[in-house]
Parts: sequence; structure tokens; C-alpha cells
Amino acid sequence: MTRQLRFGFVLHGVGAGWGDWRHAAAVADASVNFGFYREQAQLAEQAKFDFLFVADSVHITERSSPHYLNRFEPLTILSALAAVTSRIGLVATVTASYSEPFTVARQFASLDHISGGRAGWNVVTSWLDGSARNYGRPEHYAHDVRYRLAAEHLDVVQGLWDSWEDDALLRDKATGRFFDKDKLHRLDHQGEFFSVEGPLNIARSRQGQPVIFQAGASEDGKAFAAGRADAIFFHADTLEDAQRYYRDVKARVAAAGRDPAQVSLLPGIRPIVGRTAEEAEQKYQLAASLVPIENALAALARPFNDHDFSGYPLDEPFPDLGDIGRNSQQSSSNHIKQVARDKGWTLRQVAQWHAAPKRTFVGTAEQVADEIQRWFESEGADGFNFFEALPNTSLKDFVELVVPLLQARGIWRADYDASTFRGNLGLPVPENRHTRRRRENTTGFTEVEKEGETEVTT
Ligand SMILES: Cc1cc2nc3c(=O)[nH]c(=O)nc-3n(C[C@H](O)[C@H](O)[C@H](O)COP(=O)(O)O)c2cc1C
Repeated sequence: MTRQLRFGFVLHGVGAGWGDWRHAAAVADASVNFGFYREQAQLAEQAKFDFLFVADSVHITERSSPHYLNRFEPLTILSALAAVTSRIGLVATVTASYSEPFTVARQFASLDHISGGRAGWNVVTSWLDGSARNYGRPEHYAHDVRYRLAAEHLDVVQGLWDSWEDDALLRDKATGRFFDKDKLHRLDHQGEFFSVEGPLNIARSRQGQPVIFQAGASEDGKAFAAGRADAIFFHADTLEDAQRYYRDVKARVAAAGRDPAQVSLLPGIRPIVGRTAEEAEQKYQLAASLVPIENALAALARPFNDHDFSGYPLDEPFPDLGDIGRNSQQSSSNHIKQVARDKGWTLRQVAQWHAAPKRTFVGTAEQVADEIQRWFESEGADGFNFFEALPNTSLKDFVELVVPLLQARGIWRADYDASTFRGNLGLPVPENRHTRRRRENTTGFTEVEKEGETEVTT
């Protein structure tokens, strides 16, 4: 089969920006409006998107964007959407820094069962230091510690997901045997950050384990993503930027002993499509008008741990921020500082450049389809994560005008291949680790015990 694009749709309610909710087509309470999300989810599924994605963070201030100020918790909204969709993947963001792996494992396993094997976890580490204050911690973890913690968290969650072998639950009414106790396993994890006995109180789903997503652009972030994720989000303004990231991370995936073809790299894009080039330009100008300078400064604040830029002169050189941003979104804040230096831009210019809609995927349906195909076929992307540039508008335009072109070119699926998320991504069901050891170790369970994981005996 020819290689197919992977596409996610970001459920972002009133939009990612600060002014999007004021657009005429925006539903002003969309971020807490289940009917709105149901409609978007069903449209994305009708168009055969691979997955719905819910971004998240666990701290807000008065300067956060309208969507972030008032929105659904990701696993809750995706559980509700699981009931009104049947094929599309459901990817929730949950931070490893402020969650317990036992709870996370249970929640995702539950979503995976409710949806018939369509769950995915976007493992993030949280960049806002105020997150610590919502979870009773004196201070935010340092950037490198967050990634170390995330790796251990994920180890524990994936270990718990394998608590039950696939044929462990007998449910035999005649004999009264509910389960085979040799096939239920404790984890007995003792690590730097977590101590978890297990087993988990829910078995594996039809896809074995939820699909793992990550988005890391720093050295630590890329190493973590390349070693662990099935799909990776990233930012790139140009095809050359995308190719640089793509080649770097695919090489890291290979170096980690994994198959690069099985790890999808998905830049985030905001296509703006018009029936004519003039209509696309008008829509672009409309999207740009939703980002006045106060909103651009608020957007710029995000990768700098929500730093308040309002006190700096707008038309003087970009301020020297020292270490601000290093413990936040390290890669993005470094990139912005570098661009400001290289171009000699003022604060206003940097904010406007950062926050303005990009022109890369703006044009007629043919032009947007061409650009998508160009990135896909020249080592820029395996697919994309679609953010709406104009709320309650861009998805409809894209589905009506661009998807049919990509289908005609044979790179967008005509129908889903499978009923599970893994199946649709072409990923195998991971064999349960205990079943594998049982298969590999004809001498019984000695190996398992040696590695510190004991069978449950009571
Ligand atoms: C498309 C995309 C979506 C992301 N979604 C989230 C999110 O929902 N929550 C979050 O805390 N971080 C999110 N991130 C940010 C990453 O988790 C990460 O902090 C960022 O890519 C910077 O990586 P670094 O800290 O390794 O530099 C996202 C990144 C990208 C590219």
C-alpha cells in the first residue's frame, strides 16, 4: 500500500489565540460545549482523520488565552466523544510531572476500553512553573528532571498496562474461575520518583496498549520522544526547518533500535483555504486581524513561562531575558531569542512574527494540497496536526476542499483500515511482556522473578 498521510485534528474550542473567539463564526463557549465538539469530532471522522487531539496544561493566569481559561479536562471530553464516534483515535494530553502513574494507567486503559481500542496518550512534562503551586509542590521540577521523571512515569504506566495477560480473565461460570492467577502480575516498581506495587485493576484493550505521543524539541525532549513515542508533534515554520527536525529525530529513532517508519513525525499546521487565491488572502488577513499587539505579547509569553512583556518598550530591541524560558519551553524560547538577535528585531516585531498566522499552508485547495504533499514526500512530515486558523471554519473548509484532492492523489485514506487506533496507524499490538517472557522462557517464571516482578499469589 502507498504511504498514507497521518492527520490529527486539534479540539481547541474557541481557538488557540487570544482573539479567535471574537471571529463571527466562533461559538463563544465552544471550549465547554459538548455539542460543538461532537459535531467537530464527527466531521473529522467522516473525513477519516486519524485522531482527535486535546492539548492541556494545569495552570492558568489572567493572561492565559480564552480557550485555556475555561475548558474540559482531556480524558473526560474524549470519553464522551468515544461514545459518539467509532473509528477515530482519541489522544489526550496528561502531564507526567503532576500525575500519579497508577491513576494515569487506569484512566487511559478505561478510555481504551470505552472506545474499543482508540486511546492515545500525549506525554508532556509541563512548562509553566505555576503548575507546581496547584499540586502542593514548593517549586517546578527543572527541565532535565522533568524528562527523567517522565521516562520513569511512562515505564510504570506501561508496566501496569501489562498487569493482565490477554487470556487471564476466564469468567468461567461453570467452574467459578474468574481469572487465572498465574496471568495477573504485580509490578513492584521502586524508582527515583515512584513506588508502585500494582497490579492494575483493568486489563488490556483490543489494541494492547494506548498509542504514545510526545512533543520534545530540546535535546532531552528529542531523546525521550525518539526512544519512546509512536508519534511525535513538532513545530516548523518552513519545509527546511521541518526536514532538519525530521532527519534528526528519525536518525535518533533508528539509533534507539526502533523502526523509523513506525514513528510518525507530525508538525502542527493551520491551513487557510479559499476557493480562490483572493479569498484565501482575505481569510488570512481576517486571521491576522485577530492578533493585535496585546494578544501577540500574550502569545509570546507562553514559551517564556508566561512572562509579562507589557512593561518593556515595544519599539526598542528585543529585551535581554537572561535565563527566562530555559526551564519552560526550552527549545521554543531559545529559538525566539536567536531569531530576535539574528534579525535585530524590536519586541513588537518579534511578538508579531511569533503570533501571526503563518503563510505556509495558505492558498487555494490545490496550493494547500500541493504543500502538504511536498512536505510529506520530501522528508518534512509523515502527516500533520491540524489547528484551526479560523475557529469553527477551517476544519469545514479543509474537509470540503482539500481532503478530496488528497484522496484523489492516493495519500489520504478513503476509509479506515481497522477498528483500533494502532490498526489505523499500521502499528502492531505490543505483546504482553509477561506472555513474551513465558513464551521465551520455557523453564517457567524464573526470569520474571529475577527482574524483580513477582506473580500474584493471593
Ligand atoms: C503540536 C504540539 C502540541 C503540544 N501540546 C502540548 C500540550 O498540550 N501540553 C503541553 O504541556 N505541552 C504541549 N506541547 C509542548 C511540548 O510538550 C514541549 O514542551 C515543547 O515541544 C517543548 O519541548 P522542550 O521542552 O523539549 O523544549 C506541544 C507541542 C507541540 C509541537
